[in-house]
Amino acid sequence: MKFSKSATLAFAATAVAAPSATTKEQPSKRQAGCASAVTLDASTNVFKKYTLHANNFYRAEVEEAVNLLSDSSLASAAAKVADVGSFLWLDTIANIAKFEPAVADVPCNEILGLVIYDLPGRDCAAKASNGELKVGELNRYKKDYIDVIAALLKKHNKTAFALIIEPDSLPNLVTNSDVQACKNSASGYRDGVAYALKTLNLPNVVQYIDAGHGGWLGWDANLKPGAEELAKAYKAAGSPKQFRGFATNVAGWNSWDQSPGEFASASDAKYNSCQNEKTYVQTFGARLKTAGMPNHALVDTGRNGVTGLREEWGNWCNVNGAGFGVRPTANTGLELADAFVWIKPGGESDGTSDSSAVRYDSFCGKPDAFQPSPEAGQWNQEYFEMLLRNANPPF
Ligand code: GLC
Repeated sequence: MKFSKSATLAFAATAVAAPSATTKEQPSKRQAGCASAVTLDASTNVFKKYTLHANNFYRAEVEEAVNLLSDSSLASAAAKVADVGSFLWLDTIANIAKFEPAVADVPCNEILGLVIYDLPGRDCAAKASNGELKVGELNRYKKDYIDVIAALLKKHNKTAFALIIEPDSLPNLVTNSDVQACKNSASGYRDGVAYALKTLNLPNVVQYIDAGHGGWLGWDANLKPGAEELAKAYKAAGSPKQFRGFATNVAGWNSWDQSPGEFASASDAKYNSCQNEKTYVQTFGARLKTAGMPNHALVDTGRNGVTGLREEWGNWCNVNGAGFGVRPTANTGLELADAFVWIKPGGESDGTSDSSAVRYDSFCGKPDAFQPSPEAGQWNQEYFEMLLRNANPPF
């Protein structure tokens, strides 16, 4: 994951036997899915009806972390993290294998969140999350990645899914078009994102496309080109029915409604009217509407419990001192914001701090970045413990 550096420029329990008052036998195992096919109405906020599922992949990571804790009060707090709903990242073709085990325990009143994240030339403006597919491997992306996921979503049509499409990709095209790797990736990103939206437009799915955050596309000069770039992808996909809007603050650190904003006293603050995610959702959401695109949002609150930690707004890697944020909820207080959700699994690294590594990005060596940190996506026990100690609200 990477955030812009040049942003200043320009269930009904139908599947579960009803508990009986007359018998001691209660169902001990939750069954997956609903009794019949799920149809999600993307013109409504499905998070009002479905709770974000605590997927068993993150649960296993957290349970392992709990076992490493000798402090019993910290361990019991940590155990609660396993029950928090979060998104599962299908970040490589091989990791599509996480899908079947993850869907196996999703009750009918819950929704499984998936991050679609494997574009050719991924993470073009940074190094930490460079992917497996090279620029030009769009056909592999379509056939071996998106089509395979689409087939699984169809197979599991009695389960509800929320998808976040390709974090950072289109925002990078808006603000980092001067970076050669982003120039090279541009047509593949546009074609790939449109193909993903079109192919994954299934009745049991709602889609949100990544829109960076307030300190990225929220700059005054980036709002219009940003909204137009996203709307173009939506239209290129044939304006899919299951499309709901955008995701903000994915793997990010911004406060929802701190006022004045965390960076409001910076010298360039006058060029950004979106000093927190709430104003960003409202302001950018309005621009999306103008551009002809559905504009409801999901906001990642997984790691934004503490603010005032970053030296600069663009610092995106393993921010030191961070804490878990608000737990997933559809009570956001803002109609345009469907839900606060955990998208980045807290405890997984943003990028390695090993300067000799191929995917070393200098942002992960900054003074405000937690070190040492392992490769992007790898578990960092110390970082997890820090997020837990600093959690706001606490566990
Ligand atoms: C980073 C990694 C990716 C991982 C994700 C969630 O973007 O590159 O592999 O799945 O973070 O931790």
